[in-house]
Amino acid sequence: MKRFLLLFLTIVYTAVQAQESALICIETESSALVLKVGKNKKLYQTYFGTKLNNSLEYELISKENTKKFVVNDGNPLIDLRHSAYPTFGTDNLFEPAIRMTHNDGNPSLEFEYQNHNVQKIDDNTSEIIVKLKDPQYPVFVNLHYKIFYKEDVIEAWTEIQHQEKKTVTLYNYASSALHLDADKYWLTQFYSDVVEEMRMEESQLTRGSKVIDSKLGVRTNMFASPSFFLSLNEKAGENNGEVIAGSIAWSGNFKYTFDIDNNNELRIISGINEFASEYNLEPGKVFKTPAFIYTFSNHGKGQASRNLHDWARKYGLKDGEKPRLTLLNNWETTFFDFDEKKLANMFTDAKTLGVDMFLLDDGWFGNKYPRSGSTSGLGDWEATKSKLPNGIGFLMEQAKKTEVKFGIWIEPEMINEKSELFEKHLDWVLSLPNREKSIYRTQLVLDLCNPKVQDFVFKVVDDIMQTQSGVAFFKWDCNRMMTSAYSTYLKNQQSHLFIEYTKGLYKVLDRIKAKYPNLPMMLCAGGGGRADYGMLNYFTEFWASDNTDPFDRVFIQWGYSNFYPALATCNHVTSMGNQSIKFKTDVAMMGKLGFDIHVGGLKPNELKFCQEAVSNYKRLSPVIWQGVLYRLISPYEDTRAVLMYVNKDKTQSVVFSYTLHPLTDPNYSIVKLEGLDPSRKYKVKEINIMPESKNTFEESGNVFSGDFLMKIGLKISSSSRESSIVLELIAVES
Ligand code: DGJ
Repeated sequence: MKRFLLLFLTIVYTAVQAQESALICIETESSALVLKVGKNKKLYQTYFGTKLNNSLEYELISKENTKKFVVNDGNPLIDLRHSAYPTFGTDNLFEPAIRMTHNDGNPSLEFEYQNHNVQKIDDNTSEIIVKLKDPQYPVFVNLHYKIFYKEDVIEAWTEIQHQEKKTVTLYNYASSALHLDADKYWLTQFYSDVVEEMRMEESQLTRGSKVIDSKLGVRTNMFASPSFFLSLNEKAGENNGEVIAGSIAWSGNFKYTFDIDNNNELRIISGINEFASEYNLEPGKVFKTPAFIYTFSNHGKGQASRNLHDWARKYGLKDGEKPRLTLLNNWETTFFDFDEKKLANMFTDAKTLGVDMFLLDDGWFGNKYPRSGSTSGLGDWEATKSKLPNGIGFLMEQAKKTEVKFGIWIEPEMINEKSELFEKHLDWVLSLPNREKSIYRTQLVLDLCNPKVQDFVFKVVDDIMQTQSGVAFFKWDCNRMMTSAYSTYLKNQQSHLFIEYTKGLYKVLDRIKAKYPNLPMMLCAGGGGRADYGMLNYFTEFWASDNTDPFDRVFIQWGYSNFYPALATCNHVTSMGNQSIKFKTDVAMMGKLGFDIHVGGLKPNELKFCQEAVSNYKRLSPVIWQGVLYRLISPYEDTRAVLMYVNKDKTQSVVFSYTLHPLTDPNYSIVKLEGLDPSRKYKVKEINIMPESKNTFEESGNVFSGDFLMKIGLKISSSSRESSIVLELIAVES
């Protein structure tokens, strides 16, 4: 009997041992994240990087890690060092992913691996859930990893839950902890401000912590983008180097901590910013963090961007594989000053240009306090009778008669003090009860933590959708961040405000998406202050910046191209900047094209140019929207910018070359193209030429092999300041 018991225990022990040491391989087509359970039952990351052919060999890496082990040296139970989800309060010496105080006041957490399961979703996607539990407290964390195999993208998030008797307080609650081990780390971050979005800055990380975050509550990307590149060992180029691209799907306050420890190892903690946001979690309730989206490329930043573009079109962006609407917007030509007649003329202008839609911007609503400027009317979503006596439905009818679609601007999260809504619902506004209201752009933020406010915001869209022949498109603006924010609804739970606001917003957007699944919507935040993959789950595109000067715009659009596919980035041709209409249009065509210009003021040749450009764009938009992007020459490294898109079967391509501000004759070098089929022949033709002008590209109409174009290249760029060339490549029978 004793012998049997011993044998049984040995088998169980061996099984447990085997389970403990099993590797959890989170593999995409080219990359792998490997986790391992240590002898102490804790979960560690042993690898993140290029995928190995034989997954059994990841074991060798973890052995290698053991040798380098430093901090806990001497403890036979601890054989690994990169905790997969570092806690606070026991032996972690660096930035934690999670911190909590238990009911008994104890501030420590530790997690042991319990089990994991793999769920296949379809041929390309699967999810691995790893369950962890604190051995001393009924606190559970599930680490989720969603794998997008072909796109080489992983989404990582966490679910935190407990069964203590009373509420526990969470102080840190990261989506992910990712460890990297290189000699050097180079961070590329993107800082912004109004009219200065997505400026790229690359620097080497040094020991200690570097934080990129937002504390703005709403319009959270106004100063910092929630996306980054992290290069290992050396600065990555477009086509060389190991690089991680990361982005967080959260539209509230976000935070990245890049923390280099005493061993020169980097941990990246990503998620919601816990700043002023300790969270009281009730027993049995799940705290779900947003997804940290990341990809690993060993072929530089270009490949990392392409991975994210592919992922976004299929999974991250609303209707990412569907076409977009070209448009004429009225904001920069009329501002608040328009009436039915002016708008009817603009419907005709849209038709004349050949775009699909007219987009009516700010200034169409408010009666007691008409929206004749930014100081009044926000919150009162009824058409201003003095301006639009026949209402919005009539405008839709008029647009329909002119054969253009009709889109409309709203800013439903915001309110002016001079509004009927403010008079009725003072308690719906975020503001401190005992201090002056903190006004920005003469407006305040509504309290989306409050379900009644959520209903109101939903109704803004729903009511407009009910008018006559419906609306084809919304531009959803958000022109301020939170300051002096206080929610009457949340009472003594003010530290939940930033999180509950964002969740409330998502609830509204979920309802809109469910009721109007095919409604395209543009995201806007006083320019590009809100371009993140949390919002883009609900929006087909975003407004990149109120700066439409095409010179600045090249840099802004270049910045966005690192993380967002071209069809998501809205670019309008406007009267800002004194460059030619060709330069303006060519720059806008690099993403989703629109116009916001006085069409009647265009000279006949300019109008003809625009019409031809719209027609070229319609032919080429499948390549620009769904094609593969190659950034060939960066405006950060040259006085020009050159990029190209190639369709998936490599039969069509568009090349954009923008000459910026060369001081002397630049004598530009030949540009090698990328992504073509070397065995095919391509006819290269210059398009978007001003009427009655000659080709700038002398070889227009010639045929070259893909091999030649990629190995030798073409002399593409013009040497004139603020000029541009657009080439169309079509595969021809050889
Ligand atoms: C800011 C946006 O970025 C502009 O395009 C315009 O819609 C204004 N708001 C309207 O107030």
